[in-house]
Amino acid sequence: MPLRSLFATWVYEAALQRSGAGPFNRQLLKECLQLREDDAAGRRWSAKNYPGGFTSYGSVHRLQQVSPTFELLRRKLKRHVAAFAEAAQWDLKGRELEMTDCWININPKQVVHGLHLHPASTLSGTYYVRVPRGSPGIKFEDPRLDRFMAAPPRRSDATPDAKPWVTIPAAAGRLVLFESWLRHEVAVNPVEGERISVSFNYNWF
Ligand code: NI
Repeated sequence: MPLRSLFATWVYEAALQRSGAGPFNRQLLKECLQLREDDAAGRRWSAKNYPGGFTSYGSVHRLQQVSPTFELLRRKLKRHVAAFAEAAQWDLKGRELEMTDCWININPKQVVHGLHLHPASTLSGTYYVRVPRGSPGIKFEDPRLDRFMAAPPRRSDATPDAKPWVTIPAAAGRLVLFESWLRHEVAVNPVEGERISVSFNYNWF
């Protein structure tokens, strides 16, 4: 082919572990629901910044340092983070990508998480703890969208690498990783059940 694909944007999606995610997710779920009970500062922050939902992003955002369960999640994520860095051919020159932040998100019915990126970070991601049937995935936006000018729309049968937006379905026990500058959002949760996830940031300096 005379055609090259340049300037790739990588999104990594995998099962956290090969088997046995059930007991681990049950423990995570328990701690997520308990944290919402205990974290009054987080509930106040969420009321302002995450209407209808709960996130510990503004309050308890280093869960890997306070809970052995979230520290275990950090350890389980290690090989995935390493695989991403390898695929992206990052030269980390003896430095390590370290988890800096880890927080929870609870999206009840009608709650949305609008378009955003993760400032001051290198690699970000989400692990899904509970995803009721019919609740949304994570939608990524082409980072070149503001330069498209006269670019034509894509055919309805376009492959994901050619589309300006791509949604990756969420499923309990699975994770996504992406570079922190890549904008994303979670559409409104249309179903009764709460969609519960853990998000995290990594930095290399
Ligand atoms: Ni995010």
